[in-house]
Amino acid sequence: MMVKKFMFFILFIFTFSTVFAHDWNWEQINTDDLYKSFPENFLWGSATAEYQNSGSATCFNNNWADWENTKNEDETTKILQNQKSNSATDHYNLYKEDIKLMKDFNLNSYRFSVEWSLLEPEEGIFDLDALKHYEDLIDELILNNITPMITLHHFTNPKWFQEKGSFEKEENIQYFERFAKFVFEKLSSKVKLWCTINEPAIYAFTGYVMGMFPPGEKDLQKAAEVLKNLLLAHTNVYKSLKQMPNGKNVQIGLVHNLLKFEQYSWWNLLETIPVHYLNMITTDSVMGFLKTKKFYFYIPTQAYVAFEIDDEKILDFVGLNYYSHPLLAMQTSIYEPFISTCLENEVMSDCHYRFHPEGIYKAIEEISSLNVPIYITENGIADREDKNRDVFIKRYLYSLSKAIEDGYDVRGYFYWTLVDNFEWNEGFLQKFGLFEFDHDTKIRTLKPGAIAYKKIIENWQNQNLKN
Ligand code: GCO
Repeated sequence: MMVKKFMFFILFIFTFSTVFAHDWNWEQINTDDLYKSFPENFLWGSATAEYQNSGSATCFNNNWADWENTKNEDETTKILQNQKSNSATDHYNLYKEDIKLMKDFNLNSYRFSVEWSLLEPEEGIFDLDALKHYEDLIDELILNNITPMITLHHFTNPKWFQEKGSFEKEENIQYFERFAKFVFEKLSSKVKLWCTINEPAIYAFTGYVMGMFPPGEKDLQKAAEVLKNLLLAHTNVYKSLKQMPNGKNVQIGLVHNLLKFEQYSWWNLLETIPVHYLNMITTDSVMGFLKTKKFYFYIPTQAYVAFEIDDEKILDFVGLNYYSHPLLAMQTSIYEPFISTCLENEVMSDCHYRFHPEGIYKAIEEISSLNVPIYITENGIADREDKNRDVFIKRYLYSLSKAIEDGYDVRGYFYWTLVDNFEWNEGFLQKFGLFEFDHDTKIRTLKPGAIAYKKIIENWQNQNLKN
């Protein structure tokens, strides 16, 4: 009896793993017509964040500028190759030029972040020049028929907020809420799409588990508290903004990076455990909260953090940032027991995760359980030599087109990113841009691999004209 059961179990696992491993046969797939699946009012955009494009030269008053400039003697560098953001792509001053690039590229939307440290350089004191800058940027976008999407928090904090303990303390949420209300009051007559916080789990994970982002800590308990506070901050901001004038006329959402790890060998329990735990931290705790309004974060040997809210609605849409389902494999090294790898027929992006176009379909499937419209608020490839970008764009967008055909409510796609920019702890090493950037002349040049995206939008526009 036992043997029979065991055989059955093996057969089940085998069938399951073959089904699971059955990915699409890309050699046979024709991506030429994929544009036909996208609805008429679809948003085609690119996404950026202020600090990554304007750097510490403009955003000198935030925690990242501090982090870059305080070199810890014990570390070789905080930023790979010791590259500093400086003025990055100088987007703050060159935004008109960048909007022209978007226009010529056929983009009809733009996701950008408003920099809190510029708008509120000192606690409670708002800078009207900085506000004017964002008003001008928005006007320029609208003039060019480009729909703006604002992110209120994209990883950076004003120094004064950091000094107060930032999102480590629940009582500090009120400061972010005040800032959000200020920006919303001023800009919501022209901006209809609002993202509260970019990737709360990644902020908590990189800053408080990996120690790679400021404040550079490795403390799970704190990471859990920070993540809880960020989700609470989203909830409070959502509720406050919805009650303000224009609140009912706009869409407000949270941006989540659906970073789901998979294990290389289905039978290896030593892979199952870290994969399970990583997924709990980076995705499942957030998804669980958005779905059930209950937050759980289990910390081995310590208490777990949990909280619950009553509110029925805390999202008008969800922003899905999707890059990959990293494949985790065990190796025989005590220094690096796990590596991120890929299957035989796949390639790795420069960012150490696999090129996995099927994954965007899987991610949409999973995030659709929240029952709200979806925007792909980020998707892109780090590809220094621009050798895989063309195929990346065609295959990920093909996969997205299938999801739309299958009825998933995806309303826009924002490629990360417009111009090669400052990739946080990786400096300028990672090149995600549709355009490359010359640091001496500040000239932006279209990459051959990006043309695929431009053409898809062009075909889609022509189809709309015909209809
Ligand atoms: C993130 C961000 C972006 C990154 C992009 C590429 O996920 O870290 O939202 O700031 O630059 O995802 O890694």
